[in-house]
Amino acid sequence: RAIVTSGPTYEAIDPVRYLANRSSGKQGHAIAAALAQLGAEVVLVAGPNNLPDPGGVQVQAIESAAQMLAACEAALPADIAVCAAAVADWRVAGEAGQKMKKDGSGRPPALALVENPDILKTLSQLNGGRPGLVVGFAAETEKVVGYAQGKRTRKGCDWIVANDVGAGTNVMGGDDNTVHLITAQGVEDWPTMSKDAVAAALARRIAEHFGSA
Ligand code: C5P
Repeated sequence: RAIVTSGPTYEAIDPVRYLANRSSGKQGHAIAAALAQLGAEVVLVAGPNNLPDPGGVQVQAIESAAQMLAACEAALPADIAVCAAAVADWRVAGEAGQKMKKDGSGRPPALALVENPDILKTLSQLNGGRPGLVVGFAAETEKVVGYAQGKRTRKGCDWIVANDVGAGTNVMGGDDNTVHLITAQGVEDWPTMSKDAVAAALARRIAEHFGSA
């Protein structure tokens, strides 16, 4: 049984506005589909996206990081967690109950932000019921492997899939990805491939880890 997070999160400012990011959800959805294809029972916890639901996967549609964490916790126990979502680091403190209006003063409202829960870190550091294999992603624009190794130990996950999202790579929203798989044993540099191929390769590695491939 696997939990996969995918897509961006939307953090409400008022009933009609939100903070979001450019994540398409392609990589996370592809991983959910690839794990299901290998026979895993998959819960895909997905922020707003324009992708078709992958076949054979239970999809939980959420908007905010808080809802994503709650949906992941509700989907436990699981053997595998893959956190591929681009979770907003901050949400707005005190969502306005009504649409915010210009007050005529010429001064824009100040948006106070508070930090969101870190879903990968929370699942990695669960005391009881931690999934046996927790995989995170690291999108970096420089020192990709070094930063990602730090992230692996800081968050407490088992593997990190590090990808270079620097200007010109066209990873965000694109169909291809160049990744490095970082484990306690070391670093594997994978060739550039489609996000579907990265998902298939990762799912195969996960199955090998559990001795079922
Ligand atoms: O710290 P950073 O956002 O770069 O870490 C990326 C990894 O952490 C990704 O796997 C992402 O899905 C996960 N993450 C999370 N919850 C957050 C922030 C990041 O699960 N609030």
